[in-house]
Amino acid sequence: MLAPAMSVSNTSFFQCLTLKGEAETAALGRRIARLLRPGDTVTLTGPLGAGKTVFARGLIRTFLAGEDVPSPTFTLVQTYETERFPIWHVDLYRLKAASEVRELGLDEALERGVLLIEWPDRMGHALPADRLDVVIEGMDEEDDDEERIVKVIARGAWASRVGDLSDFRSGR
Ligand SMILES: Nc1ncnc2c1ncn2[C@@H]1O[C@H](COP(=O)(O)OP(=O)(O)OP(=O)(O)O)[C@@H](O)[C@H]1O
Ligand SMILES: [Mg+2]
Repeated sequence: MLAPAMSVSNTSFFQCLTLKGEAETAALGRRIARLLRPGDTVTLTGPLGAGKTVFARGLIRTFLAGEDVPSPTFTLVQTYETERFPIWHVDLYRLKAASEVRELGLDEALERGVLLIEWPDRMGHALPADRLDVVIEGMDEEDDDEERIVKVIARGAWASRVGDLSDFRSGR
């Protein structure tokens, strides 16, 4: 049986979307950018090459048009100053131990900025309970390898904020 496209509970709000090509993944990043406030955490989960950085680039360029947004694979953290808040784009793939997270100073990011985290599972239990989880799947579809299925799970305070994202393709 297919999972419902959307479901709501007291603590989380779940929706499932199809992304046809890189441009749509970036568009969803821009759609979610509109919701952000200082102190927010958005996690990006999915296998290598799923499109996590493409999503982050779309989101960051909403505030900084044309900005170069490299993957933070080697630097672990890239920070961006925007007019509204700083954005910390983090990639924890190369993190060796969850204890190394403290050295990255992410607590400071959460005081006034927005945290975008690729490979959040490397953080263990240190993730904020209020967060938006973006899970990108569907890469083994042989007939259309540009298509991704994305599950968006809004947790805690995010559950009542996120709303229906299915209009993301029309967003600017
Ligand atoms: N629907 C899609 N959404 C996003 N990227 C797509 C899509 N279809 C194809 N691609 C391609 O897949 C690649 C995704 O790369 P990206 O760096 O965003 O992955 P990633 O999830 O950040 O990987 P990593 O775990 O290595 O950081 C790009 O080369 C992009 O062009
Ligand atoms: Mg990446």
